[in-house]
Amino acid sequence: MEGDQQTPYESVFTQWDSNSTVRTHPRRMLDEVEEGMTLFSAELMPCTTHPLVVAHGLDAVNELLTRRLYTYLDFTMILEQQYINPTLIRISENRTGVRFSEGMRRDAHFIYCDEAYHALNAVDLKHQVEACTATRSSITARPAFTATLRLAKRRLPRSIWPAVDLCFAIVSETLISGVLSSLPRDSTVVTAVRESIADHAVDERKHHAYFSRLAERFWPQLNSSEQRTLGPLFADFIVGFLRPDLTAYRQILHTMALQETDAEQILAESHPPAETTADIRRAARATVKLLERIGVLRDPFVADYFHRSGLIDDAVVNAAASREH
Ligand SMILES: [Fe+2]
Ligand SMILES: [Fe+2]
Repeated sequence: MEGDQQTPYESVFTQWDSNSTVRTHPRRMLDEVEEGMTLFSAELMPCTTHPLVVAHGLDAVNELLTRRLYTYLDFTMILEQQYINPTLIRISENRTGVRFSEGMRRDAHFIYCDEAYHALNAVDLKHQVEACTATRSSITARPAFTATLRLAKRRLPRSIWPAVDLCFAIVSETLISGVLSSLPRDSTVVTAVRESIADHAVDERKHHAYFSRLAERFWPQLNSSEQRTLGPLFADFIVGFLRPDLTAYRQILHTMALQETDAEQILAESHPPAETTADIRRAARATVKLLERIGVLRDPFVADYFHRSGLIDDAVVNAAASREH
């Protein structure tokens, strides 16, 4: 790997003692699910407004939303503990294959601590919901992003896996998921869930700033062949994170008394491909902008891959192609 670092690193954690969730926010307690409230946002799980689901009655819909919360909490716990924190350890110990400044490596500890707390909150909230409702967590599907990362690594030599993990963390930490951005504002969701997710969103805004700075330093240190290998992975990871996790949704729907064909119809009609692509593009905007700024999309091959993934329009591809000629 080649290249060098540019502007001095400025920490985004100087106020961590007074503004991180782990240091300043109380444990969020769920005593009861108030009448008329749900445990997850129906807007974020379109299946629950499908006529074939609504026909089963309000209790059935609420149960699906509770199960959707469980899958979100499992997703959070797995992502933080098994994927992001191992990468933060490698950043802090200087074992990523690229150079990061001492300040940047020290700050990885703040995020490590935040993420461990987010995982704890997810587990805690899940136990509280199980204690408060008749719905037990039963969904066994691993989150879709785990397969995306596994497939990416399978095609590549082990020597580049630490860089793959950095690309994965950059995507995960700079995307603004629908849950983090809109669930806290949904007044139909119980307060403890909204507060817990709002707490998480506060920390993630600082993580976003840190990983943007990390990406700016990481990318120029790669040679052009490494950039061409890793560039398309950003698109795969973005789509892997943002596309509806149909395997998990299918399992959730199967907990209802539904015909197999009904479940497939509900999934298809709740997630029209054109709408899904537009949603992904909207949610990925900040991450794609960052990747454009650090030069990932300068390579026409990578820009074309992003275009075929539905993430950018012709103008960016044409700009990359004309730079090459
Ligand atoms: Fe987090
Ligand atoms: Fe984070």
